[in-house]
Amino acid sequence: MKYYLTTPIYYVNAAPHIGHAYTTIVADLLKRFKRMQGFEAVITTGSDEHGVNVERAAERAGKTPQEFCDVIAAEFARQWKMLGLQIDHFQRTSDPRHERSVNQLFQRCRDNGYIYKGSYTGQYCIFDNLYVNDAKPGDPCPDCGRLTETVTEENFFFKLSALQPKLLELYHSQPDFIQPETRRNEVLAFVKSGLTDLSITRTNLKWGIPVDQEAPHVFYVWFDALIAYMTAVEGEKAGGESLWPADLHLIGKEIIRFHAVYWPAFLMAAGLPLPRRIFAHGWLLFESDKMSKSRGNIVRAEPIQKVMGADALRYFLLREVVFGQDGSFSYDALVGRYNSDLANGLGNLASRTLTMIHQYRGGVVPRGERDARTAAMPPEVSPDAVSDAATHAIAKVPGDFEAFCFSLGLEKIWSLISTVDRFIVQMAPWKLARSTEAAARQQLDDTLYTAAEALRIITALASPVLPESAGRIWAQLGMTQPIERVRIDQLQWGELKPGQQIGAVSPVFPRLDARPAIEQMRALEEKVTAEQAVMMGKTAPAPAAAPAPEETAKIAIDDFGRVDLRVGLVLSAERVKGADKLMHMKVDIGEAEPRTIVAGIAEAYRPDELLNRKVVIVANLQPRKLRGIESNGMIVAASVEGGKPVLAGFHEDIPVGARLK
Ligand code: MSP
Repeated sequence: MKYYLTTPIYYVNAAPHIGHAYTTIVADLLKRFKRMQGFEAVITTGSDEHGVNVERAAERAGKTPQEFCDVIAAEFARQWKMLGLQIDHFQRTSDPRHERSVNQLFQRCRDNGYIYKGSYTGQYCIFDNLYVNDAKPGDPCPDCGRLTETVTEENFFFKLSALQPKLLELYHSQPDFIQPETRRNEVLAFVKSGLTDLSITRTNLKWGIPVDQEAPHVFYVWFDALIAYMTAVEGEKAGGESLWPADLHLIGKEIIRFHAVYWPAFLMAAGLPLPRRIFAHGWLLFESDKMSKSRGNIVRAEPIQKVMGADALRYFLLREVVFGQDGSFSYDALVGRYNSDLANGLGNLASRTLTMIHQYRGGVVPRGERDARTAAMPPEVSPDAVSDAATHAIAKVPGDFEAFCFSLGLEKIWSLISTVDRFIVQMAPWKLARSTEAAARQQLDDTLYTAAEALRIITALASPVLPESAGRIWAQLGMTQPIERVRIDQLQWGELKPGQQIGAVSPVFPRLDARPAIEQMRALEEKVTAEQAVMMGKTAPAPAAAPAPEETAKIAIDDFGRVDLRVGLVLSAERVKGADKLMHMKVDIGEAEPRTIVAGIAEAYRPDELLNRKVVIVANLQPRKLRGIESNGMIVAASVEGGKPVLAGFHEDIPVGARLK
């Protein structure tokens, strides 16, 4: 039986961070879990490489789009390797094979009457590659809050509206098609409110997949990107079955509409089988803020992997965050969880159990036979209580993982760990070891066997989440069958062989000192961020030529109050002839007449990038003539030595003319 699952294919205009790692780690966990259930599980991830954003990022980096994508796609692949993720296919959308499969799918939709040519004028968000329905010029994108741009083009359209009934029928006949329920409801409401046809090609873009025989049309990035899930496994089989359709698309909640509406619609129109399920998880927030480049609060996986190991990150993300909901990441919580659950919990259980077997039984697993005294023990601490709890965990944990309730499953495994811990304390094997009585010997054997067998089961159950450390504990237990071969339906109490020689004990989760560990991760984070900035072709931070903020002369609040800073909307922008740096703009700052402003930003921004953009204007500067044009105000931008100016702006919508205080 095959199980084909995918992560989103990630945009290459940002370097990978733990948000991307989160989805990919869950895919890896599910692959390992499905394998334990006897499936041949296959993962596709990859990189989404086309579109204006990438074109612009490449330009900024001084590379061709292809060169730029090669570097960033390789960085994503390197990250997944560093985290030990078992990726089968890394699909790049610039792969020529993908180009063919996109055109084929388009042709199928066209042959079936779902494609027509039309003209489109509307607002478009270049960052999300999304046309924003019902938006007016100057409106922000509802997803990212950045200003939309007005575009008019002749495009190929996809008849999405015609598929509304079929989509609704799909959601009703397969209630688990979209998970979790909240996302399903969101999609249902969206589709019920009526679907408009989708423009699926562009003519204003060079870096995209050309539509065969239809130059200058290139495909809209989302039409191109979704098809990557099919390209990756075209013609491929596992367990005698064709890998397509996918059994699961794992995604973040912000891209649910593309996956649960557009994607099945494209496939329906092409007459191809639909994926079986889409699961949209929540966002990882950094200390309750959304991680984003502009907030500068992005956390990377590499420093965590280097200091604490990839399993520590996996465990934290899956235990701390309820899959499907938003969750917070913080270094304190990460180290806290690690110390309490991994070092003191599983790690401690493993080392004390294995160390006692070495100390008291020469490293050989004893035979665990009950004597009359053990049978008469209080039920909650007896060996039977432990084996019952283990059998219960075997019965329940897979169901939790199957239902994407990873934290619940882990909670159950950890409750078994505390049962075993309590059992060991109660039995006090160190006391039994001092006695020479035959009954005490037998009880010690039974205690050690029970603890070791519970450890074996705990390790097997936790292995999809903690593959590397589970493998190490497994080897220390002296198991010869590789842990990857363990089948969950064959896991049962009593399989540990008495007489088995265990391996050398070494701590799997050494306790961490929080402060230095966090400092080390933060220092590495800075290093990695700087390396990635260089990779993205960003100008290195300016050398410390300018005085540090605290050294700059201080001014009184009133001094600042004399500067009239206003929110302005750029109504027009054109280059000043004969002056490479100067841009001549009309900016609405909420007065009767727009202001004329001439600014030295023409090398950093094209006129179309400025149009409809909200900027910050110093409104009470004395007028000044530049190349014969009177400039009435100044536009605020950050200046980076040796780099280009970067305009100040807003994430939230803000009325034109608002004062900055
Ligand atoms: N290229 C599109 C996807 C096309 S799929 C055919 C895209 N790429 S992306 O690089 O922006 O990646 C988005 C995905 O990364 C999210 O859906 C989610 O899987 C993951 N995450 C990125 N940031 C995240 C968080 N802060 N938290 C959780 N997951 C996040 O959209």
